[in-house]
Formats: sequence, structure tokens, C-alpha cells
Amino acid sequence: MRGFTGFAIFSIAVVTVLASPLQSRQSITPLSAAQIAAFKPFSFFASAAYCPAASLLSWSCGANCNANPGFIPIASGGNGSSVQFWYVGFSPTWNSVIVGHQGTDPSKIEALLTDSNAILGKLDSSLFPGLSSSVKVHQGFANEHAKTATLILTAVSNALSTHGSSRVTIVGHSLGAAIALLDGVYLPLHLAGVNFTTIGYGLPRVGNQAFADYVDAHVAFTHINNRKDVVPILPGRFLGYHHPSGEVHIQESGTWVSCPGQDNTSGQCIVGHVPNIFEGSIGDHDGPYDGVSMGC
Ligand SMILES: *[C@@H]1O[C@H](CO)[C@@H](O)[C@H](O)[C@H]1NC(C)=O
Ligand SMILES: *[C@@H]1O[C@H](CO)[C@@H](O)[C@H](O)[C@H]1NC(C)=O
Ligand SMILES: *[C@@H]1O[C@H](CO)[C@@H](O)[C@H](O)[C@H]1NC(C)=O
Repeated sequence: MRGFTGFAIFSIAVVTVLASPLQSRQSITPLSAAQIAAFKPFSFFASAAYCPAASLLSWSCGANCNANPGFIPIASGGNGSSVQFWYVGFSPTWNSVIVGHQGTDPSKIEALLTDSNAILGKLDSSLFPGLSSSVKVHQGFANEHAKTATLILTAVSNALSTHGSSRVTIVGHSLGAAIALLDGVYLPLHLAGVNFTTIGYGLPRVGNQAFADYVDAHVAFTHINNRKDVVPILPGRFLGYHHPSGEVHIQESGTWVSCPGQDNTSGQCIVGHVPNIFEGSIGDHDGPYDGVSMGC
């Protein structure tokens, strides 16, 4: 019953939040305390991905792991330098396979996001079969995603069959949010009959307008950004980048609001609140997201 109750709360709270930005009602809506609280376990799952792969495999990474007791790790990898840490496991509480991707420290993500590094290109057609060639993404993010893609696909496939689950939740912060979003596009192309949910924190822009439209049509996606974090306004829209829908913005007051549409320019949402990099703050990048600061 515990699993079912967890699943029900997850469905009602998170899936309602996920669905609302996609609905026709176009207003900026504050999240309820229950809706905010429903994200918290997933914020800890995203933060845990900063911990060394070996500690993730025994789910003994301290506070981030302790926040989700009972989690069953299945595979992990990366080395925290040239390959970001990642893990795959099964959460009986949410009856979901969880995929977590590590981010980078603020200086590294800023380096990836400079104009000269923000090259848009096609996705690898063997990893992403059938996608229109008009879909373009940041080549640095695509390269990072490609380093672990097939390992994660194998681990997720094993986890689904071992635990008889049909739900996968993919999380990450910063660069990890970009890789998580690419996994949110990639994994469903190879696994049928599975419900995927993707949650990104402090997400930079990942691709062009066609990519954002593809995500809106195919990926149940929420991206949560904090106060004046500069990362979510990079790379700039003038370089051809667009965010998908599903933004949740944490305002200076701590209120969480759901922002309809792509790159909503309202001052209540990140694009309006941080009109240029000089008004942004890298100090807000790691959170706190309802009390969770990203990192191990
Ligand atoms: C991290 O892993 C990659 C790929 O296996 C390897 O090339 C690199 O040298 C490793 N870096 C460290 C610091 O271990
Ligand atoms: C996905 O979830 C929805 C509701 O949460 C459910 O109706 C549907 O059957 C699920 N699909 C799969 C393939 O499990
Ligand atoms: C931003 O939100 C407002 C609601 O305040 C909505 O009317 C508008 O269409 C949204 N903008 C975009 C670009 O979706």
C-alpha cells in the first residue's frame, strides 16, 4: 500500500503540475504547499547525483541518499571530471525507476554556455532515430549525453523488468538537467510502454525552437529555476536557443509559480526576472530549491 499511496501522491501533485503549463489556461499560477513538497524527494534525487559513483551504488551518500530511504541502486558510473556521475535505481516509494545526472560547478557550466561554445547541431541519428533534422541542440550537451546514453538505457531496461515497473523519472541539476532532458527525449525512443517524467533544476537552454516544440509534444517535463539564477537565461535566445514549456520559477519571496509557454517574458518568470546576465546571480544556481541545495 505504501507504494501505491506514494504513487498516488506523485500522480496528483507532480503530474498535475506537469500538466498545467501544457493546458490552455494561460496564467501564472502559484503552486500550493503540497505541490511544492511533492518535488522535494526528486530535488534530493537530483542532488545525490553529485556524490561519487561508488557511494551511489551503496546508496550511502549522506543526507541526499537518506532523504529517500529504501531506494534500490542498480548501476552508477562517471568519475566527476570528464564524465559526470550518474546513477539508475528503483524507488519502491514512487514505484518508479529513477535516473540521476550530476551537474557541474558554476564556473564549468558558465564556460560551456559562452557564446563561442554554444554551437547548435543535429542529434546523433543512431541514438535519436527518427527525429527531424530541424531539431538542433547544444553540441557540448549532446556530447556529454552520448558518453553515458547506452549504459543508462541498458540499466533502465534492466531495472524496469527486474522490478515490474512501467514508470521512469529522470532528474538532474545544471549540466545534469540538460543531460536529463536529452535522456527524456532519448529513452522513450528505445523503450515502449513506459511512462516517463523528467524534472530539471537550474536548466540552461538546450536546443532550438524545433527542439523545444518536440519536447513540448513528447516529454512530460518540468524545469525549476531559482530566483536570479543566470544559467537558465543562457545560451541567449539571439543565438537561436529556446526553452521548452514547463517552467516553474521560485520568486525572491520563495513563492513557486508555474509559468505557461516557452521562455515566458513575465517578470514573475526567469526570462523577465533576469533580463540580462548582469542582473543574474550564479549564487542562486545551486538553490535552495525548497530547502535543498544541490551538491554532495
Ligand atoms: C574519467 O573517465 C574518463 C573515461 O573513462 C577518462 O578518460 C578520464 O581520464 C577519467 N578522469 C579521471 C580524473 O579519472
Ligand atoms: C501512464 O500513467 C497514466 C496515469 O498516470 C496511466 O493512465 C497510463 O496507463 C500509464 N501508461 C503506462 C504505459 O504505464
Ligand atoms: C506568459 O504568461 C502569461 C500569463 O501571465 C500569458 O498570457 C503569456 O501568453 C505567457 N507568455 C508566453 C510566451 O507563453
